[in-house]
Formats: sequence, structure tokens, C-alpha cells
Amino acid sequence: MRRTHTCGALRAEHEGTVVLLQGWVHRRRDLGGLVFFDLRDRAGLTQVVVEPSAADAFAVAQGLRSEFVVEVRGTVRARPEAQRSAKLATGAVEVVATDLEVLSEAKTPPFPLDAVGDAGDVSEDLRLRHRYLDLRRPEALQPLLVRHAVQRAIWRHLDAEGFIQVETPMLTRSTPEGARDYVVPARGRPGHVYALPQSPQLFKQMLMMGGLDRYFQIARCFRDEDLRADRQPDFTQLDLEMSFVEQDDVLEVNEALMAAVVREAVGREIATPFPRLAYREALDRYGSDKPDVRFDLELTPLDAAFEATEVRAFRGALDAGGVVRGLRVPGDVAAAISRKGIEELEAVAKRHGAGGLGWLRRAGDGFTGPLAKALRPEEQEALREGGRDGDLWLLVADRWTVACTALGAVRLRLRDVLGIAVDPNDLRFLWVVDFPLLDQDPDSGAWTYMHHPFTRPRDEDLPYLESDPGRVRAWAYDLVLNGSEIGGGSIRIHREDLQLRMFRALGFSLEEARRRFGFFLDALAYGAPPHGGIAWGLDRLVMLLADARSLRDVIAFPKNQRGFDPLTEAPALAEPGQLEELGLQVLPTLDREATGADA
Ligand code: AMO
Repeated sequence: MRRTHTCGALRAEHEGTVVLLQGWVHRRRDLGGLVFFDLRDRAGLTQVVVEPSAADAFAVAQGLRSEFVVEVRGTVRARPEAQRSAKLATGAVEVVATDLEVLSEAKTPPFPLDAVGDAGDVSEDLRLRHRYLDLRRPEALQPLLVRHAVQRAIWRHLDAEGFIQVETPMLTRSTPEGARDYVVPARGRPGHVYALPQSPQLFKQMLMMGGLDRYFQIARCFRDEDLRADRQPDFTQLDLEMSFVEQDDVLEVNEALMAAVVREAVGREIATPFPRLAYREALDRYGSDKPDVRFDLELTPLDAAFEATEVRAFRGALDAGGVVRGLRVPGDVAAAISRKGIEELEAVAKRHGAGGLGWLRRAGDGFTGPLAKALRPEEQEALREGGRDGDLWLLVADRWTVACTALGAVRLRLRDVLGIAVDPNDLRFLWVVDFPLLDQDPDSGAWTYMHHPFTRPRDEDLPYLESDPGRVRAWAYDLVLNGSEIGGGSIRIHREDLQLRMFRALGFSLEEARRRFGFFLDALAYGAPPHGGIAWGLDRLVMLLADARSLRDVIAFPKNQRGFDPLTEAPALAEPGQLEELGLQVLPTLDREATGADA
């Protein structure tokens, strides 16, 4: 190695040392016949001075431009007191160059690296198109360092706990996790495709059947689903599975692991065990199965008070078996919410399935607003309870899930509009437990799995699997941090007969179950241990720990919000001949040019 130090290493005590540094020219300034530039690498910046007396070096220095890669040999000199920089770790010194060599020239960057700010003045697509430049910014590198530390902590901790790391296949068969598969056509078998794994679910279960006992993997997963800020088409899970365990065992292992990860990655202590919230309670209180519990503003059940209501919209919902839920915005902050503000909140509620958002303002002991006249005394009484003058009530009457989730979304919006202070450093982990096993599509009435078809039902609820599917609870759990679902898992079905029964309850015929999962049912028939596990969304966890703005900031080469990679321009049109070789044809109704390129 030629370099003697990184660009972040030199301090006052190095005065007089002859050093050799390599790095990028960060910024060059010509001052009074001298050339100054900051030399940059991953570790930091060091100021270099080139004096005319070093004639060759001086000539090179005059031609330097930002982002040139150079090698400097020189002597460390203490900077005069007045010129010291407190902002730089190396700010007490500079290197007086004796030799200077350009290792690579650089074109002018398409965006100035030090102008990328929170204001988003440089478009994200431009940054991603030149991600190798973007990553030279310390702010862009930082989340990747956190990510590295998280993975190191996972390896250390799980290795010490007796977990074995195993890699499972990328080219495989479909693993249902509720998204579409990315498929890879198999050249040797026309019409056949591999599926990229949505998760290693079936393989990790088969590892338990193989006797591995404790498995983990930092696994790449692929899901073709609608993109959101917290989703990427390919993303990373910490996937783990354990044999001969019950729910409490899995949760405890994960709490200890998370404490180790947070300690190592961001140097903070978190309290364990994490609070546990039943799914029903999470929806009832926060309107979400991934509640942000850093602020109160909880939902109020109003069914009893509104039982005999004359408010027409509520009456209909209650008669149809629905509920009334309310959110009380306290009087001292409610004044900040105008009529227009309420309309915006209503739009949020509607996007989450509610027919509308009723509202009332408390004025003295009475109420104003469109519903005020129809309120019965019992209803007024309930809305006054525990409240005060000026309160704003927001109400939704609908099916239980819709009423809760719509107000849950309004609750989060209120957090943002009211500027309710939430501290990103306040890491509020919690478990949501006691999920229902199945979820009913309100339109078709069909039952589908809440997590995946391999989740074990509670023994005591099994008799209802066919007769009253909605009543069956699962041994399933989600890990939540500050309003994000950062993990999910379950205890699994480990008996073939129950797995078949589950497939039947999900509407699979025996033939379909065997065709899609025959290999897995076979494996279950040869002696499977009771087992269970979890997968963490590693990108999401790192995003929260690094306080990054988006999932894209914690992934070295992410896709943009349209699932397109501006750097490599993937997905790209198939090469001529490629489709033919694969025995594929694109339907003429699909315009290849239009769909192949980024819109
Ligand atoms: P699940 O589907 O809940 O469970 O996924 C586990 C966690 O992965 C994260 N996640 C995502 N992160 C980024 N982009 C996405 N598109 C994305 N989809 C999911 C979430 C989620 O909580 N096999 C089961 C786990 C198990 O049962 O052990 C599974 O994959 O943080």
C-alpha cells in the first residue's frame, strides 16, 4: 500500500511527519500565489497546500479540478491558530505538498456533491443515475455504514446463540407472501419459469425438517407489488427459524438480538422485553396494526353511546353490524385545524375506505358542526367526557377494520399537521400478537391468510377453522418500530394433515395444493419438528436506525419509486434473439418500446 494515512487521520501530533495521501480533490482554492485543496476519501478531508517552491507539484496543482483522483506526498504542518478548522477532524493541520500526481482526471460532476441537501435541490434520479458520485458524500455513505454494523451484529450474536447461516436458492418455485412473483424463463424448458423467492419461507422450514435446529440468513427477497416509500422490489430480510420452540422463545431471542444490534449499530440501549399489543387492541386504540406509540391521540369507541343514533350515516353503518369510532383532538391544538384542514383529513379517511369523516367542535357544553343538530343527549354526554371546550371530534362509522384504520390514518396525518413532536431517537419497539389466522375479502367473501399459509392456528380455535374462520387466532407476531412493520413471523404448521386442512380452508383443491406445494407436503410427512421463526425487514430497520429519509437511502443501488434503476436502466428491453432463444413472444398489444423504457 502506498498511502501512509487516510484523509481523516492526521492530527497535531503528526506535525513534521512525511505522509503520502491519495484521494479525490474536494475543492480547490488559489490564494496569494498558493494552491489549497481539500483531499477527500471515505475517512474525511485533509487540507493540502502547494507552494510555488515545489515547482512540479505547483504546476500540477494549477490544473486540478474537483473529483480528480490524486496522490500527494508532503509534510504535515500545524495550521496557524486562526486558520484552524473546528469542523474538520484534521482541522489542526495541513499537508505541504512536495510531490503531486494526478491518478485520474474527472469530468465536471452533473451535480455539485456538496450541494445535495435536505431541500432536495438535486433530483433523486440524477443522484441514482450517478450513484457512484452520490456515494462519495459522507451523508450518503453513513446509512451503509449503519447497515454494515447491523449485519455484523446479527452475525456475531446469532453465531454465539448457535444459529447456522445457510443460503437458499434464488432460482426456485413460488413462495406465496402475498405479492406477484418475478419469474425467470428457463431456456432449457420452454414455457417453464423459475420464480425468484418472495422469501426463503419454505426452504427455512425444510431446513428445520433437515434437523438444522437454528438457521439464519441475510436473504434477498423479490416481490412484484405496488411500490411505496417503504418498499423495494428487491429487498433484504434477516430471516431466521428455530426448532422445538413456542412463540415466547422466538420473541425472546429476537429481543436480545435487537438489543445487541441497536447497541452495536447506533450505540444505544433499548429496554426488553418489548411491550406486546394484541392485534385487536392495536386497531382499537391506534387504528393500526403497526402503531406509532410515541404520541397519544388514541381512538375512542363510541358504539354504546351512538347505539340509538339518529345521525343517518352512522345509523346505516351500525345497522349493518359496523361500529362508530372517534378521535378527539384536544381543544388547545384543535383550533389550528380549519375547515379546509378537516376536508384534507376526510380525504385521508376516504383513501382508507371510509365513506366520510364526521366532525363536531365542542363549544361550551354544546357542539357545532354538520352533525351537531342530530346529536342525542347521551351522545353529547359521551363526547364531553374527559374533554374540554374547543375539542374537535373526528368520527367514522363503518365496518370495524375500516373505521379503525381510516381513523388510524387520520391520526398519523394529525401527527404531521399538528407538528406533534416525535423523537426519531426514541425507539419504541413493540410486538403485535394474537392476529387472526385468516382475513375475509369484504367483496368476494373469500378467506385468505393474514401472513402466509404455513402459520399455525391456535389449537383451541381449530374447531372453528371451517365453521367460523374469522374466529381462529394464529400464532403470528409482527415486530413494530415507531409506526413501521419491521418484522413478521409465526409458529408454523408442522403436520401434513393440518397443512392440508389449511390449504382447503383457503380454497385450494387437493390437486392444486399438491401441484404447487407437493414437495413441501412430502417433507412434512417425514417427521417435522415443531418450529417457528421470523423475518425482519432489514432495509426498514436500517432506515429507522440511521434516521434516513427513504429505503432508497439505505440501499447502495436502489430502484427509484417506479421500480426502475436509473443507473443501469433496468429493466431493459430484451436483446434481439433473447426472446427467441427463450421461446417467448411479446403480445402485439404491449408496446415494447413504451413499456420497456422508464415512463
Ligand atoms: P413478511 O412478508 O412479513 O414475512 O416480510 C418480513 C418483513 O420484510 C419487510 N418487507 C419489505 N421490506 C422492503 N420492501 C418490501 N417490498 C418488503 N416486503 C416486506 C417488512 C416485513 O415485516 N416469510 C415471512 C417471515 C416469516 O414468517 O418468518 C415473511 O416474509 O419489514
